Amino acid sequence: MISEKNRALFDREVAKYPADQKQSAVMACLTIIQGEHGFVSAENEKLVADYLGMAPIAVHEVTTFYNMYNQRPVGKYKLNVCTNLPCQLRDGAAALKHLEQKLGISMGQTTPDGMFTLQQSECLGACADSPVMLVNDLTMCSFMSNEKLDQLIAGLQSAEANQS
Ligand code: FES
Repeated sequence: MISEKNRALFDREVAKYPADQKQSAVMACLTIIQGEHGFVSAENEKLVADYLGMAPIAVHEVTTFYNMYNQRPVGKYKLNVCTNLPCQLRDGAAALKHLEQKLGISMGQTTPDGMFTLQQSECLGACADSPVMLVNDLTMCSFMSNEKLDQLIAGLQSAEANQS
């Protein structure tokens, strides 16, 4: 069931579109769900589908198309490394491998402490800055040499240590 709070947020998003085009709010509704749960479960896809009058598969197509939606719980820091062709030609795969070795996990996995999830990403629109990666779907990191990757991980670990 959609919580009252989320229903109000959904209503606000739907109000931005003509009444017969409320499906246009699907991405916003999924973002609201993910903000609350950290990921979008199949059950919540169905709730969004019912609310917007869409087929559940159409909502699932959105959650699986965009990297920013998580189909399962992820770590506190989600690291998306671009391995699309232009980045592959400029050390994108090497950056991913370096992070796999450093974090002791494979692409798609989360570290046992729940801190980092490592993912492959499609083109992030910054091919000339390769290797590139996105942290938590918002922070773009460019020219990620192994040294810069090490600095990034150390910085996030130290920020975490200071919070606890
Ligand atoms: Fe990596 Fe475009 S291919 S940013």
